[in-house]
Amino acid sequence: MAGIRLRHSGLREQITGGDSAAVERQHALGKLTARERLDLLLDEGTFLEIDMYRRRQGGGLRSGGRRPYTDGVITGSGEIFGRRVFVYAQDFTVFGGSLGEAHAAKIHKLMDLALAAGAPLIALNDSGGARIQEGVVALNGYGGIFQRHVRASGVIPQISVILGPCAGGAAYSPALTDFTFMVRDTAQMYLTGPDVVEAVSGQRVTHAELGGAEVHGGRSGVATFVHDDEESCLEDVRYLVSLLPGNNLEPAPASPPLGAASDERPALAEIVPVEPNKPYDMRRVIDEVVDPDSVLELHEHWARNVICALARIDGEVVGVVANQPMMLAGVLDAVAAQKAARFVRFCDAFGIPLLTLVDVPGFLPGVDQEHAGVIRHGAKLLYAYCEATVPRIQVIVRKAYGGAYIVMDSRSIGTDLSLAWPANEVAVMGAAGAVNVIFRKELAAAEDPEGLRAELIAEYTRELMHPHYSAERGLVDDVIDPVQTRAAVARGLAMLRTKRGSSPQRKHGNVPL
Ligand code: HXC
Repeated sequence: MAGIRLRHSGLREQITGGDSAAVERQHALGKLTARERLDLLLDEGTFLEIDMYRRRQGGGLRSGGRRPYTDGVITGSGEIFGRRVFVYAQDFTVFGGSLGEAHAAKIHKLMDLALAAGAPLIALNDSGGARIQEGVVALNGYGGIFQRHVRASGVIPQISVILGPCAGGAAYSPALTDFTFMVRDTAQMYLTGPDVVEAVSGQRVTHAELGGAEVHGGRSGVATFVHDDEESCLEDVRYLVSLLPGNNLEPAPASPPLGAASDERPALAEIVPVEPNKPYDMRRVIDEVVDPDSVLELHEHWARNVICALARIDGEVVGVVANQPMMLAGVLDAVAAQKAARFVRFCDAFGIPLLTLVDVPGFLPGVDQEHAGVIRHGAKLLYAYCEATVPRIQVIVRKAYGGAYIVMDSRSIGTDLSLAWPANEVAVMGAAGAVNVIFRKELAAAEDPEGLRAELIAEYTRELMHPHYSAERGLVDDVIDPVQTRAAVARGLAMLRTKRGSSPQRKHGNVPL
């Protein structure tokens, strides 16, 4: 006897998206359709679609008879490099990807599943925002998404990919996730579009000027990654997922070790100039310390005086925070502190060890910074490190002065292992500045102030800034040969692999937002 089978109605095959004109328009804009994007994102043949037949239940302003299946969003689960993810892809060819009641309910269901399964959530956003003709139920739908993002925060990685316009609620959803990708020319994010901006302020701006990828990747810091096209963007989403654990209770996926614990890197002796103020590219140091071709830099074009990157060391995923002497001499400022703080908190939430490479002259002084709230923003980074319980390794590459030394994962705020290169200079401030402050009267009274100044600077350097000053006091655990850095960090990570951290019982801390 034949079993019960789904009668082949052909309906499933018809559910592709909007009509051919809408698809053509999408392609003409340089954009892929939602299903084409899913094909690129996921391992072939792994997508399991959910709620394909869902659609709008009548009602709404002049809604007519249009009730397309999917309701403008494709939801389901698949695999990336064999690991489970949950994904939704908004379909601009159906109601402009706008979010109505059914559309939102599908996303809610998917988010609940992702959280229950403990697997990353990926949102491919391409949407006109709240579906205007559905009124308050559309707003209610967004509220449900926001609430779920926050509930899942720190439990599963959440990734937003912006592949078209994202207005209003469509912009707040990414803002609540861990990573935001944007594609140049086709992606925009703003709370209110150019028309509203002109009506309110008289200012005329284009979509790109208001909220394009360049703006959010370089100025606002809203976008974590910026790409030229959808293909390379989705490729990088796949790479990011390969570095992340499925949830906060799993370790990040390790790749085979490369024998880093005995790996000497002669180039490290050459990259960093001995003169404390001479610039160099810290990315070259990072490249020598981590596994080849493993670096994924976040916010590459924003707050460039600090580098935040995910990478592998001997196969193990680490989060690297590093000052960048090539930009603003590597100072910390308000935006750099925000960038690094958020990254440190992400790594801590997902059990990713932290490697901090220090070469910092201090916090950037100035009226602009004080008025921009550098105290408040700097405190975010301080707070993030103080709170982090993952394995933490600090390497002082050259100088580390004042509050910036403390903030960059010093012993006093809980680093587990502090290593320093021989040229390390750790002090309240540099020798010249220090001598000016503490010997002001003597210098003013001296017959040969410049001679005395030189003498005092030499004395200060000799007494307070010699390579073993911090190590003699236990604030640095070892002074290492630079060429040994990769090996020393790999050994340190192995030593700390079983570290367990705990925090006092509380509802949550009050991070200075
Ligand atoms: C319903 C929408 C829509 C929306 C677009 N469409 N946005 N339908 N609700 N929000 C429909 C259009 O009517 C059109 O349908 C199709 O999608 C394609 O839109 P076009 O305008 O032709 O496309 P384009 O020229 O590329 O412009 C895209 C756009 C523009 C920039 C997104 O459509 C736009 O400005 N939309 C409104 C954006 C907005 O203000 N959203 C509300 C945000 S407030 P047809 O049938 O003609 O193909 C919000 C509240 C939540 O989200 C706030 C929470 C904090």
